[in-house]
Amino acid sequence: KSVLRGELRGEEVLVVSNREPYVHQRRGDTIVVNRPASGLVTALEPVMRACSGVWIAHGSGSADRDVVDARDHVAVPPDNPAYELRRIWLSPLEEEGFYYGFANEGLWPLCHIAHVRPTFRNSDWEQYLAVNQRFADAVVEEAKTNDPIVLVQDYHFALLPRMIRKRLPKATIITFWHIPWPNPEVFTISPWATELVEGLLGSSILGFHTQAHCLNFMDTVDRLLEARVDRETYEVTHDQHTTAVRRYPISIEWPPAAAMTAHPVEVCHREIRAENNLPLDCRLGVGVDRLDYTKGIIERFRAIERLLELNPEWIGRFSFVQISAPSRSRLDEYQSYEAQVRALATRINERFCPSGRSGPPPIILKIEHHPPEAVYRYYRAADLCFVSSLHDGMNLVAKEFVAARDDEQGVLILSQFAGAAREMPEALIINPYNADQCAAALHLALTMPAEEQALRMRLMRRLISEFNVYRWAGRMLLDAAIMRQRSRLPELPL
Ligand code: G6P
Repeated sequence: KSVLRGELRGEEVLVVSNREPYVHQRRGDTIVVNRPASGLVTALEPVMRACSGVWIAHGSGSADRDVVDARDHVAVPPDNPAYELRRIWLSPLEEEGFYYGFANEGLWPLCHIAHVRPTFRNSDWEQYLAVNQRFADAVVEEAKTNDPIVLVQDYHFALLPRMIRKRLPKATIITFWHIPWPNPEVFTISPWATELVEGLLGSSILGFHTQAHCLNFMDTVDRLLEARVDRETYEVTHDQHTTAVRRYPISIEWPPAAAMTAHPVEVCHREIRAENNLPLDCRLGVGVDRLDYTKGIIERFRAIERLLELNPEWIGRFSFVQISAPSRSRLDEYQSYEAQVRALATRINERFCPSGRSGPPPIILKIEHHPPEAVYRYYRAADLCFVSSLHDGMNLVAKEFVAARDDEQGVLILSQFAGAAREMPEALIINPYNADQCAAALHLALTMPAEEQALRMRLMRRLISEFNVYRWAGRMLLDAAIMRQRSRLPELPL
């Protein structure tokens, strides 16, 4: 944290993301404040708390405008204000085209290999362009200097870096792409592939979670633009501007905030079972995701079904709690995914725990928002956590589960298609499409001796304690600081 503060001393920092870190909603006479379920918010919130600046975001979940001042600002976090949140209010038309349409029906399925076809519409593109322009205007408005550090987040804002660069040529723009970047064959499916890539190349630094995503991006540039792509230095020069393409694997706060681990593990173990009507000796698995087709929730349930087929001794002795925060539920694809998830859970429960028979159901499905403290209680109560993403930039649930287990117990089952698998090979790495392999991993997790659990957990905890979110942000900001210092050197008369 202090490194972060050191790097930022005297610098102006602006963050742009679509999702706001806090949602203020009026319930009767009171304003209720929630934090949305998003890896991005989980990662950036501690950074902003450490450096104080302005976070510009779309005021999506905030029905109420009376929490903000005349400039649409509000100080957050509510209990201990550390930075400003500036909201941009989008019209229904803008939200439809920019957020639901182009970002989540176009770019999201384009960049994730989850076998959902992307949809690209002209009208969505127009809104995407217009909303990116609105955010660029807001950055210029908020900037007090002509060379701020601007942190641009994710696939909602591919055009923003270039737009900002035009108005604030001296700004240091660090863009982080939180989702995978596919190969050029896939990316050029987008009718606006060239514009998107050119937009991103307005950045000083462009970050991805893995080396493979950096390489895919550079290959895409090579395919689409007249640019110099240097695969040794990982630099791309286009239109007389150079962008450094870098790998910065995202992480979480370490140690976790005290509130997350406030309840002793034994208490969580007991209480969570009681709250879910499970016997005290029932073994427990947990899955935590947004309800999204990239997360492999169907594959996860099939693996549980396969476990019970292959190892019937677990019937009635093992339950899996799936916590799914509803997400983007206005989109057809998400509605039909939710219906499939619900139907599969019901079918599996009927098969192994028919109505009328008592005993724990194999799957307990909770489709509702849970605040982080509640999720941590589940992490601490569980024997295993199952992350089965079909494709994922990083996946912070995997890291949160490990962070939650200060007792060094519990087993992480982790998809080979999540960026996190590169960093934590000590997890049980699985292919979510292989139900038998996943079932074997579940059985292994449920029978793993305590010493082996501790050995694996310790290695993963060491990694996260060292490569925490401050390090993620710190490394980006350090690279940016070096760039800034270099650019301020006088030119040599040679
Ligand atoms: C992913 C994206 C984030 C996004 C989050 C939640 O983690 O990378 O940019 O905020 O999903 O999705 P939502 O559409 O609800 O913001």
